[in-house]
Amino acid sequence: MSEPDMSDSEKTPGTPDPSRRDFLKNTALFGATVAGLGGGLELLTRRPGANAEGTEDLGELAQGRVIQPVGPFDTKEKVTAYRAMTTHNNFYELGLGKGDPARHAAALHTRPWTLRIDGEVRKPITVDIDTLQSWFPLEDRIYRMRCVEGWSMVMPWFGFPLAALLRRADPTGQAKYVQFTAVSDPKNLPGQRSRVLDWPYTEGLRLDEALHPLTFMAVGLQGRALLPQNGAPLRLVVPWKYGFKGIKAITHITLTRTQPPTSWSLAAPGEYGFYANVNPDVPHPRWSQATEQRIGESRRRPTLLFNGYAEQVAGLYKGMDLRRHF
Ligand code: MTE
Repeated sequence: MSEPDMSDSEKTPGTPDPSRRDFLKNTALFGATVAGLGGGLELLTRRPGANAEGTEDLGELAQGRVIQPVGPFDTKEKVTAYRAMTTHNNFYELGLGKGDPARHAAALHTRPWTLRIDGEVRKPITVDIDTLQSWFPLEDRIYRMRCVEGWSMVMPWFGFPLAALLRRADPTGQAKYVQFTAVSDPKNLPGQRSRVLDWPYTEGLRLDEALHPLTFMAVGLQGRALLPQNGAPLRLVVPWKYGFKGIKAITHITLTRTQPPTSWSLAAPGEYGFYANVNPDVPHPRWSQATEQRIGESRRRPTLLFNGYAEQVAGLYKGMDLRRHF
């Protein structure tokens, strides 16, 4: 990952340029899915402010609901502008620049999409994304997101807890870790034709981290289906860890006995560890992690241990040396 580029994170992100056709297709499919679901539909109508008031001036891109912080895990901090969340991205399959994922969004084909869950489970699962979404009541989570590069956002996700999905696969007593693998489609994804990472992108969690109630599978952002640049159709969100743990466009989840390799720790083992817990006291070898640039703010703000979720997650790491297990 590149060194923090403040000129990049401070500048106003450009006009969103997702393929309109793909966006409409995506939204239509999502609408159809939600309409077929008691839980999701109820949630869409039950949440307050189901209109575009107060959102950024984005024309049709701002049709999502206004999400209010009502859940126990929701931050009340100001939600980042939708335009910034969808045009300032890291998604190397779609290019290395912050604006590339939005520009190349149409290259990610999100239907049909199959998720497979296997490994140390009693009930392996192979399911298409629309069926998967119908299994769970969909809920909102307003989380802080802190990138290892030193910028941050507040993002209103829409989805379901990872624990609900893993329980359905019924992990065996041997399962200790969870490995996630992202889409592999070098024919269409421009970034996968470069050797910047060993494709496909992979990530991992300890099983207890994966089962933590904060750990979330997102299918939407700000009440709308995820756009490709944000990891459609299914992406992981682990709000107390650096953003690179939040693997996008997931196709495969395997429960394992041993700690799985992860893309960034393979690419630069001295810089990116398996745990990647947000920690202002453990600098990246090339920059401090003490502060962050919240996108949309003028001044840097202090970074919080576990990204402000210490109360919920510090217990997972009791007795661990957080410098060694960075
Ligand atoms: N997932 C995949 N498949 N490929 C990627 O390059 N980048 C990661 C993460 N997930 C990445 C990925 C990084 S470095 C960050 S900071 C977050 O996605 C950014 O998420 P956002 O663009 O939705 O803010």
